[in-house]
Amino acid sequence: MTPSSLLHLFFGAGPLLLVIFGSAWGSNTTTPLVMWHGMGDSSVGLNGIKKMVEEDVPGIYVLSLKIGDTVIQDKENSYFMDVNAQVALVCNQLSQDPKLKGGYNGMGFSQGGQFMRAVAQRCPSPPMKTLISVGGQQQGVYGLPRCPGESSIICNWIRKKLNSEAYSDFVQKHLVQAQYWHDPLNEDLYRTHSLFLADINQERGVNETYKKNLQSLDKFVMVKFLQDQIVDPVDTEWFGFLKPGQAKETQTLQESTLYTEDRLGLAEMDKAGKLVFLASDGDHLQFTREWFNAKLLPYLR
Ligand SMILES: *[C@@H]1O[C@H](CO)[C@@H](O)[C@H](O)[C@H]1NC(C)=O
Ligand SMILES: *[C@@H]1O[C@H](CO)[C@@H](O)[C@H](O)[C@H]1NC(C)=O
Repeated sequence: MTPSSLLHLFFGAGPLLLVIFGSAWGSNTTTPLVMWHGMGDSSVGLNGIKKMVEEDVPGIYVLSLKIGDTVIQDKENSYFMDVNAQVALVCNQLSQDPKLKGGYNGMGFSQGGQFMRAVAQRCPSPPMKTLISVGGQQQGVYGLPRCPGESSIICNWIRKKLNSEAYSDFVQKHLVQAQYWHDPLNEDLYRTHSLFLADINQERGVNETYKKNLQSLDKFVMVKFLQDQIVDPVDTEWFGFLKPGQAKETQTLQESTLYTEDRLGLAEMDKAGKLVFLASDGDHLQFTREWFNAKLLPYLR
């Protein structure tokens, strides 16, 4: 038997066995998965991943979040809808979904990674069990070198706005990417005017509720893309960022005051083994099925 036919046998029989065992136990023991797509994308853009997970975890309920009534609205909202309002909308949707009552795992792609964390911090019911941030910008971005997809006109316009007036109240309210724009040369402006990221990262004071809710996660998994051409700096995908006051040198999460002062409870989580740092050797959101199955699937079973 060749290695490939062995592999085929293994992967072919796996799901079948799981189905048989699952029904023999007579209960539905898989944890549902809720996914949040990235910028310029829509719930439909995650169909491939949804299908893959459904194949590999038989019986799983996978919800790919749609922000708005149509695919077009969903995409537009990823650029222009106030993030705090988006998070509130999602919290409301999750709380009314009977299939999520027992808890769920949250997986956010790109900006969906930090939005999903906001859901964990603000909305403890139903409980999120494991949070997986796939290329999320947990400390924001300071640069938008390229946009995903073909939206170059919108992207150029957004880049201009971010560089000139990211912290104006109008832009904060109406431009999603401004809400996680993090200017290390103007930390004070960021701290006081960032409507979304500075709030969930406890830059204006410590909200104990955020800390408690985040710490009730079983695991917080962060995936960084080693050749990422879209996210700047890429350290943000592991919750690191540029050192304050300059725009060259970066620091890790562990070197930041967020961690040393433990304003968000991440240091405690780290010590408890709840933080998981994974890497994929590709550009933004580029990974193979083999990588996904080896690294992320174990958290979804
Ligand atoms: C498990 O629950 C989900 C969500 O309720 C449902 O869609 C799925 O069919 C169930 N699977 C099994 C094997 O009962
Ligand atoms: C802390 O966060 C909770 C959950 O979002 C919120 O209800 C509460 O108002 C926040 N408290 C402060 C002081 O901002």
